[in-house]
Amino acid sequence: APAYIYKEATDASVAVAKEIATLIKEKQAENKQCILGLATGSTPLGVYKELVRMHKEEGLSFQNVVSFNLDEYFPMDPSSSHSYHHFMHKNLFDHIDILPENIHIPAGNIPLDQVHDFCMKYEEKIKNAGGIDIQLLGIGRTGHIGFNEPGARSNSRTRIIVLDTLTRRDAANSFNGIRNVPQRAITMGVSTIMNAKKVILVALGENKASIIKKAVEGNVTPLLPASFLQNHPEAKFILDSSAASELI
Ligand code: F6R
Repeated sequence: APAYIYKEATDASVAVAKEIATLIKEKQAENKQCILGLATGSTPLGVYKELVRMHKEEGLSFQNVVSFNLDEYFPMDPSSSHSYHHFMHKNLFDHIDILPENIHIPAGNIPLDQVHDFCMKYEEKIKNAGGIDIQLLGIGRTGHIGFNEPGARSNSRTRIIVLDTLTRRDAANSFNGIRNVPQRAITMGVSTIMNAKKVILVALGENKASIIKKAVEGNVTPLLPASFLQNHPEAKFILDSSAASELI
């Protein structure tokens, strides 16, 4: 999978937003829905900001967009300010014209014994929508994509997982301490992600440089789930110069 390096994080974000907007418009011209796989965290914020700007200033419509988010903490109430549900509304959905019924985010507030069923249905919905056209990803310092932590199998589908300690530590600040970070999450699997027609992994900042080097240049291994993207014919890494600084 090729890596594209932008000097500034903003340039990388704008390029990704443009690619997404272009596909949305192509699908509109064909009277088709555009199926987006979306991520949370700090990395896609610039992409969402640019998409909101395009909606407000250039009339980009999201009425034909169907979205599926990668993951949600478990347990997690959607109304909590820590939820990915809250994050997506605050940073994107509240500012665009996507139809509420077209938004899908894993539920963190269902009883544990219903999670398996929920995950099967989530996969079913993606399939019935025709599959994901573009999957947007960040990367964790463990090498996770979605919340597929080291050890995740290439054939994994949407399921409940246990978060890596490093992932919980990285989230500790926003939760006011690691003890408040949930131990688990519901995430699309590696296979769910690999089934997307196109995959764009964005990494920004120097704290991603060493994991990016391994993901892009290292062996393909379940010990570093992002490395599986090397086997995807339409996956690419979009980096700023800091995240790319350790590449050969
Ligand atoms: C978020 C997700 C995670 C993040 C990753 C990087 O939905 O699936 O894989 O993309 O943890 O997070 P940030 O962007 O905050 O560095």
